[in-house]
Amino acid sequence: MADQCHMCLLGLIILCPLLTGKSEAEVIHVFSSSGENVRLPCNNALSDCSSTTWNYNRHSVAVELITLGIKKNNIERCERLSLGSDCSLNIKKVTQEDYGLYCCRQFVNGKQQGTDARVYLHFLHVSSSSSQTEIRPGSSVTLSCQLYYYGVSCDSLVRTDGIQLFWVNQADVSVMTDSRYQISSSSTDCISNLTTTLLNEDLNREWRCLVTQRNQLKTSATFTVKDSVSIFEFTQHGTSVASTTEKTQIPDTAPKSLWMLDHYSE
Ligand SMILES: *[C@@H]1O[C@H](CO)[C@@H](O)[C@H](O)[C@H]1NC(C)=O
Repeated sequence: MADQCHMCLLGLIILCPLLTGKSEAEVIHVFSSSGENVRLPCNNALSDCSSTTWNYNRHSVAVELITLGIKKNNIERCERLSLGSDCSLNIKKVTQEDYGLYCCRQFVNGKQQGTDARVYLHFLHVSSSSSQTEIRPGSSVTLSCQLYYYGVSCDSLVRTDGIQLFWVNQADVSVMTDSRYQISSSSTDCISNLTTTLLNEDLNREWRCLVTQRNQLKTSATFTVKDSVSIFEFTQHGTSVASTTEKTQIPDTAPKSLWMLDHYSE
């Protein structure tokens, strides 16, 4: 069963409109961060998946990923996609490119059955303006946590779906009210920034940005302060996914007092 994946940008079709008015079925939100494997459920599946079509929507066009139970082999991320036995769509090693609206639709004898099952895949990304520069005790760092979302406003995710972004320390204790940290958040674009001045004891400490939905943890992404003499690399938690991050070799002459920020997702 060799899955041949060819890169090709043909085969774009308009499908799965964003707005369906009042008859809209339940919408599912799935939250992911870099390197995770995710499963997008198809809640309208019939007895087998030979009627199942999955498509992906962003930038007002749709790309068909699965047609009548068969994976399209002309799409860019074909190798990372698979159809589950329950007709769910599995995506391996999620990247920022994957966020958007996924739509599962059933066709029997060429006719659509039932309503579309819609799954919004959102992507949590952490970055630091300081990651490429020297950091050391006494320097100020800002860690920026951003949720990439599609189809809805951040405001509606927060108000209607109960989404929250917040920061915890290595002991999993919230730092949101800790005076050592300045947290600035924007609920119009789902960003939370944490700024602090590094202390000596911060070496190997981590800060984690969490996304919760109605107080349930959905996903997180972590920053760790590392001694920069070691090699900068990603550490994955919870998955056995190999790192694809570029490694930055630090010259042997680098003074041992330099630190780096390291981040990973789980
Ligand atoms: C968060 O930090 C980024 C990068 O420093 C900045 O561009 C953005 O405006 C900040 N956002 C908030 C809500 O503070």
